[in-house]
Amino acid sequence: MKKTDWWKNAVVYQIYPRSFKDSNGDGFGDLRGVIEKLDYLRELGIDVIWLSPVFDSPQDDNGYDISDYRKIYAGFGSNEDMEELIQKAHDREIKIVLDLVVNHTSNEHAWFVESQKSRDGQYSDYYIWKDPKPDGSEPNNWGSCFCGSAWEFCEERGQYYLHFYSKKQPDLNWENPKVRQEIYDLMKFWMEKGADGWRMDVIASISKNQNFPDYLEREGQKYYTGKYHSNGPRLHEFLHEMNQEVLSKYDCMTVGEAPGSTPETARLFTDPKREELNMIFTFEHMNIDRVPGSVNRKWALKPFDLRELKKVMSSWQNQLYNKGWNALYFENHDQPRVISRWGNDQEYREACAKAFATVLHGMQGTPYIYQGEEIGMTNVAFDLEEYEDIEVRNAYQELVVKNKTISEEDFLKAVWNKSRDNGRTPMQWDDSENAGFTTGKPWFKVSERYPEINVEKALEDRNSIFYYYKKLIGLRHTESLLTDGDYQLIMEEDAQIFAYLRTTDQESWLVAANLSEQHRSTEELRKFAGNVKEIKICNYERSSLEEDMRPYEAFMMRIR
Ligand code: NOJ
Repeated sequence: MKKTDWWKNAVVYQIYPRSFKDSNGDGFGDLRGVIEKLDYLRELGIDVIWLSPVFDSPQDDNGYDISDYRKIYAGFGSNEDMEELIQKAHDREIKIVLDLVVNHTSNEHAWFVESQKSRDGQYSDYYIWKDPKPDGSEPNNWGSCFCGSAWEFCEERGQYYLHFYSKKQPDLNWENPKVRQEIYDLMKFWMEKGADGWRMDVIASISKNQNFPDYLEREGQKYYTGKYHSNGPRLHEFLHEMNQEVLSKYDCMTVGEAPGSTPETARLFTDPKREELNMIFTFEHMNIDRVPGSVNRKWALKPFDLRELKKVMSSWQNQLYNKGWNALYFENHDQPRVISRWGNDQEYREACAKAFATVLHGMQGTPYIYQGEEIGMTNVAFDLEEYEDIEVRNAYQELVVKNKTISEEDFLKAVWNKSRDNGRTPMQWDDSENAGFTTGKPWFKVSERYPEINVEKALEDRNSIFYYYKKLIGLRHTESLLTDGDYQLIMEEDAQIFAYLRTTDQESWLVAANLSEQHRSTEELRKFAGNVKEIKICNYERSSLEEDMRPYEAFMMRIR
């Protein structure tokens, strides 16, 4: 089988199935809902769908807690539906990438059910078990990403098991070769059914520091997350093995979620010579608006500074050039809506959504669009009780109620700005009840802005964000400069304009976005641009570089 780099000029669209489209009126999105909307996605022009997990699960973390990797969760449909989806997507030249959640399983997975029974059974070493300290307490001070300890005591074994996420998500023991083999087998199972690749959940965490050292203690804190949790000594060995055992046998694409990654470590994952993954999702640019090291974690907000964003993204562009590959994203099911977070989701909503899209899709790498991003969906501001996400609920109990390190008011503000639920409200299809997502009662509240922001409206307006994305995607397919050109940030210190050059032997492009509400002179840009040869895309009317840039104006133009 010949492996190709088809994913280099592909655009991926992420579907969070429970919130995408409900086909049977139970209020919960499903696979038949996705099938219904394939023609919509074909119209948009995307190449790949990444489906968040659809496998059997008690849904403690919305499916990121899998109890059977070979079975589709009944709420989403059946295995036959999945096969039909793959087939019908392929008929439309859309590939399907599945979510591989193998840092942990659900505690209801048969392996864990057996594992917790005894210390010497067939599955005893499938998870990470440790004896209590002599005083009965946890083996170390590692914390869960969802707050509290990362250890849970199991009476039956008289031991603790490790869980980086909820206690219903025990971490698998990758040191055990049998575990790795099980994982490779389940990957092959779906690839034989036609899956075109994998998004790998928290893949940087599969190898842990095997000394299980305590984190250094700080006043007012009991449990910690950090460097011992991820990027352990055998990470790249495991990924190379997975590549040899499975990935190299298919013409597939892979993207690993890699908390704690830097451009240097990204090369280890994505340098083709190393035969691991195609690309990774970094968190560096997602962390620019949080106070580093705060006990209140992501809920400690730091004002957005465009210069920071430019610095981080540019360093990834430059350091991976010819050495690896970038996964480009602003949104996914764990992130708020970018226009609400860093832009303007009111007066300039449309221009702003197009401007952020221009900046992202002008870069080198594979761009990801998260459902609803292509119509400019926005954050929501619900009451605390209305939030569904386990991350919000646990953080509220721990930080507001128990530790009192953040006031309820500040916490709520942070939730409106940052919570994962901002991206999880049902997709807004039209202005009918429940935004056309379901005929039943939606599992999660619909944004009240759906009469104004919905797919039907976007499709009727040739100037909509949707058609702007369609054009951007088209450019990714036809313009090899976007795939191959090098990258140079310009106007580095400017806090409003994000501008860079892309260059190949044949041509140069200027990509620029005014990410502010002010009019900005183009004088500085003209110094770099010389003559405008062709405007490739612009979210306002423009024929040269003479006029000022208007609020949230963005463009790509050929200048040589
Ligand atoms: C990352 C996923 O994207 C997130 O939604 C999930 O909660 C954690 N990993 C745990 O699987």
